[in-house]
Amino acid sequence: KKVVLAYSGGLDTSVILKWLRETYNCEVVTFTADLGQGEELEPARQKALLMGVKPENIFIDDLREEFVADYVFPMMRANALYEGLYLLGTSIARPLIAKRQIEIAAKVGADAVSHGATGKGNDQVRFELGYYALNPDIKVIAPWREWDLTSRTRLIEYAEAHQIPVPKDKRGEAPFSTDANLLHTSSEGKVLEDPWEEVPDYVFSRTVNPEDAPDTPEIITIDFERGDAIAVNGEALSPASLLARLNDLGRTHGIGRLDLVENRFVGMKSRGMYETPGGTILHLAHRAIEQITLDRGAAHLKDELAPRYAELIYNGFWFSPEREMLQAAIDHSQAKVAGTVRLKLYKGGVHVIGRKSPHSLYSEKVVTFEDDAGAYDQRDAAGFIKLNALRLRLLGRRDR
Ligand code: ARG
Ligand code: SIN
Repeated sequence: KKVVLAYSGGLDTSVILKWLRETYNCEVVTFTADLGQGEELEPARQKALLMGVKPENIFIDDLREEFVADYVFPMMRANALYEGLYLLGTSIARPLIAKRQIEIAAKVGADAVSHGATGKGNDQVRFELGYYALNPDIKVIAPWREWDLTSRTRLIEYAEAHQIPVPKDKRGEAPFSTDANLLHTSSEGKVLEDPWEEVPDYVFSRTVNPEDAPDTPEIITIDFERGDAIAVNGEALSPASLLARLNDLGRTHGIGRLDLVENRFVGMKSRGMYETPGGTILHLAHRAIEQITLDRGAAHLKDELAPRYAELIYNGFWFSPEREMLQAAIDHSQAKVAGTVRLKLYKGGVHVIGRKSPHSLYSEKVVTFEDDAGAYDQRDAAGFIKLNALRLRLLGRRDR
């Protein structure tokens, strides 16, 4: 029996590693993904080795480019926001981790996979829908739903009993729950559980407080091609380096903080704090380039589809026919979404101040309030309004 565990090297997954061996008497293969969480991955390898995992059973993969090119960017093309605000930084990473775990399971001949998500959240659903979609026969072990370590306190006691080091934050208690990658950092639990209490400063890890951000605004440009960002300030960058660049800019100017109470798929409300610096800039810039390059019909249909698409990603249905259908439509709409957006970054704000495109549908000649030299005949509007008013007038006559 072999199990491939999504292993971060942190407390929870280290306890799971021990527990899987004790409970199932199985060989554990660890998989640690570099999704740009900004942590060294060597410590995860050292920790796995220390816990007795064989070197050939330790997988550490740099998935940053794949993450941004094949997951974050397609999602950005859709302008996806869950419940109007959340840029889905955790949700979009889970399908890629699941996919790689299933690939590793096939490679090493494992019949099961395991993850460290709790039985109360969204992540268990996302991981497992991914597993089953990609390998219908895989066995899934979700320790949080099985073991009797029913609280963080019990988990920490187990760790201490098994010589697993327990990290402490500055307050001398176990840290709140976080998840980080190139797109965002999310924090939940502990001090955040009272939605009336303001998030304390020490929770933020990748943006300066907007109140402390520079007093002078910074102006940047982002170039787009087929709906994807390709350059910052004229410098062509790979997807992952581009997002990293925007993250640096966003950090400096305190951009992308979000305090949100959201509806989890499993039914409860939860309060989270998100930092999505580069993603916030990208989202607004993408909307700006679409403003001049998308036709109204396509743009409005996209806006109707976006919440559905976002909900599919939030609920873990990345590998589903309906997500793929929507993706095909969204990608099709992006053929001419190209050009340059100019933005001003200032004290937590991202302000679009210019956009241009070789495929622009914006016609100054048509829209101008000055002499348009016959580009638009104002008299046409009279009939347009009259016919649109027809039913309103009939209703008015009947009802008033
Ligand atoms: N609520 C967010 C989501 O469902 C983040 C979940 C993981 N975050 C965490 N701090 N453990 O996508
Ligand atoms: C977890 O349950 O492990 C984190 C929170 C979530 O997935 O919603």
